[in-house]
Amino acid sequence: MVKKVGVAILGLGVVGGGTYQTLVEHHDFYLKTQQVDISVEKVLDLNLERLKALGVPQECIAKNIEEVLADPNVDIVVETIGGIGVAKTFVTAALRAAKTVVTSNKELICKFSHELEKIAKHNHCGLYYEASCVGGVPIIRTLLDGVQANHIQSMMGIVNGTTNYILTKMTYEGADYAEVLKEAQKLGYAEANPTADVDGYDSMYKLSILSSMAFHTKIPYTKIFREGISTVNVKDIAYGREFGYTLKLLAIGKNSDKGIEVRVHPTFIPTNHPLASVNDSFNAVYMTGDAVDDVMLYGRGAGALPTASAVVSDVIYAATHSDIKYSTFKNNATAESNVKFVSDFASAYYIRLAVEDKAGVLAKVTGIFGKCGISIVQITQKNAESAEDERVPLVVITHKTTENAAKNAVSKINASGIGSVEAVIRVEQ
Ligand code: HSE
Repeated sequence: MVKKVGVAILGLGVVGGGTYQTLVEHHDFYLKTQQVDISVEKVLDLNLERLKALGVPQECIAKNIEEVLADPNVDIVVETIGGIGVAKTFVTAALRAAKTVVTSNKELICKFSHELEKIAKHNHCGLYYEASCVGGVPIIRTLLDGVQANHIQSMMGIVNGTTNYILTKMTYEGADYAEVLKEAQKLGYAEANPTADVDGYDSMYKLSILSSMAFHTKIPYTKIFREGISTVNVKDIAYGREFGYTLKLLAIGKNSDKGIEVRVHPTFIPTNHPLASVNDSFNAVYMTGDAVDDVMLYGRGAGALPTASAVVSDVIYAATHSDIKYSTFKNNATAESNVKFVSDFASAYYIRLAVEDKAGVLAKVTGIFGKCGISIVQITQKNAESAEDERVPLVVITHKTTENAAKNAVSKINASGIGSVEAVIRVEQ
């Protein structure tokens, strides 16, 4: 029997517009394959031009949220507004009105899923957010269903398209960060205020959601170590490639006997690692489970139709399942008290120094690393960058050590008078 389901879309921007288009164009396909008759009953957006451009019929245009929620034909509310202002107010109101919510809003889910899930459970409705992480890549459904048989030991993801686009251009065209950022803004990848992407906040919100699901415990974003790409120098990308490494902004989550470590930072990975070939605005998540071993999901992490693909899949799931699947972890505001977090995590390091080119300097540098208990794998002196520059770059690759030991070595080198540390990049093998 065909089930009739009514949808309202709040916010008809890039993702909301793609969702509207997908639902309208694929209506008959879903009817045939899923036996659901999904109709867009209401849309809410202040920009009437946008509504006109998409051909939204006049009778579907709502004046306010009250009108949307009072419509008995609306079963599912799609929130594609973004942010945690009006979006949170509308989502809360929709759940209180017992409407199932589908959202693409990572900041909202990262910061408030505990509150929203409680309201959803109380009102017996669903809260789905596949589109909040990694756009069209079905990572949330994979974590909820596909890999449930496993203890997930680690996940490493390229979960932000803007920064991956910028790093790809810097890697293969030798372009400067500032230059590529401008180009990314022109192409519409990077926002006018690019902070959320380039400083790693976007990746941090996504890692908080994904690692909570992977490790079955709440990982608040405040527990995540975060460093963005705005200080990455194109020189280091080129030197790293000489050592066989490619630079990516990775979201890393690990769960071991020592505890849980979660971090977002520029990372060198071996150039033959599957994540190293994820380029441009593409995203991927590479994870390891104790039964399945390695799994990698790859695809478009942003864009109108790829993200709409995730939104509409949630709509179809909600429309075709009478039982509701919530998160598998105790969804509180804070982490559970018995969960240990590792802040002094272990990593190998790429460290670039600028030093005077004279006898005894190398011995002093290696002496400091030795005193800090850090073993060196490789050390290379490069040519001075200009004839006037009296200092030369010295690039050190270390064995695995700890974050604190590396920080200790960096401050000792800076205090020693033999040179300065110009770049520190973590290396994952
Ligand atoms: N701004 C994000 C990115 C897309 O660049 O990947 C939405 O999550």
